Amino acid sequence: MTSDKNRVLIFDTTLRDGEQSPGATMTHTEKLEIAQLLDEMGVDIIEAGFPIASEGDFEAVSAIARQAKNAVICGLARANYKDIDRCWEAVRHAARPRIHTFIGTSPSHREITKLTMDEMVARIHDTVTHARNLCDNVQWSPMDAIRTERDYLCRVVETAIKAGASTINIPDTVGYTLPTESAEIITMLLERVPGADTVIFATHCHNDLGMATANALAAVSAGARQIECTINGLGERAGNTALEEVVMALKVRRDLMPFTTGIDTTKIMKASRLVSSVSGFPVQFNKAIVGKNAFLHESGIHQDGVLKNVETFEIMRPADIGLTETNIAMGKHSGRAALRTKLADLGFDLAENQLNDVFVRFKALADRKKEIYDDDLIALMADSAANT
Ligand code: KIV
Ligand code: ZN
Repeated sequence: MTSDKNRVLIFDTTLRDGEQSPGATMTHTEKLEIAQLLDEMGVDIIEAGFPIASEGDFEAVSAIARQAKNAVICGLARANYKDIDRCWEAVRHAARPRIHTFIGTSPSHREITKLTMDEMVARIHDTVTHARNLCDNVQWSPMDAIRTERDYLCRVVETAIKAGASTINIPDTVGYTLPTESAEIITMLLERVPGADTVIFATHCHNDLGMATANALAAVSAGARQIECTINGLGERAGNTALEEVVMALKVRRDLMPFTTGIDTTKIMKASRLVSSVSGFPVQFNKAIVGKNAFLHESGIHQDGVLKNVETFEIMRPADIGLTETNIAMGKHSGRAALRTKLADLGFDLAENQLNDVFVRFKALADRKKEIYDDDLIALMADSAANT
């Protein structure tokens, strides 16, 4: 896909793992709209759905496969021929299709599937071979990899590679791992599994302990070159790794992590708003990167600092994620410098004595009202003019 060893592929699963969040179901048209934006913003692989899950999922994956211009279009399938065939029927319309097949390999998952270790290895061999006979781009995942015995994990990964998988995804299905372990598992697989250097390792993290972004980045440091993620971190329970967080972390800290992605970060805010409105999941105010307050400064000291030199309190620019709104929030902690700048932005250039008067009125208003909007300031100016 890319020969650059420092290029990290972004695999977006908003439409599959993200849609699995209770209450986040999306319509066919909404899915197509999201897929188009993901494609435009440079997502490398779009996991468009789980074709066997429903007729609607099948139709959506087929339509997204037909629509995609650049991205690889991937569908999910369990480890059986029926799932894999159905998945292929949907993704085969894409210029660049991928089948992603998985099976739970940890002790509790083996118990559910009632397969012995050897039987599961045989199943992995057969299903990956079957998928590979249909499609030359096959991804395989040992679900709950983190809680799978290490020796067995090496064995199943080796089996999938020998059967033809070109991407091996290591899911932390229950959000249980920590950065040190996330890195250690990738290192171990690269060292111990024959053929590991011929495939791409992916990291797929859930956020149950709030570690998804850190775990994904740790896996990349250890050699993973595909991050599986969703817009706004949408996903079951506490969600998946948030695309905007890993992409911006890699962009902002290139000094520590010399990796690149193909994402046009200026489309991040648009994607966040689209996914939030379509899924009906609001974005928490202080969510990293895309939260309403992520670039807002209210305290006088911070406002004064950013007005003089934006780098004092900002590690990235709002424009980097496509945000054009002002980064100054007017409230009771704001100082005179911020008020002067804000009023100038609104077209009011004040002499010092006028500013003193408006500042007193502004503070009184801010004590009564949690948020001060532009309209409040315009009304304040009209009031001030009428009374002086
Ligand atoms: O979390 C998980 O294990 C998954 C797999 C299906 C890859 O979503
Ligand atoms: Zn998942």
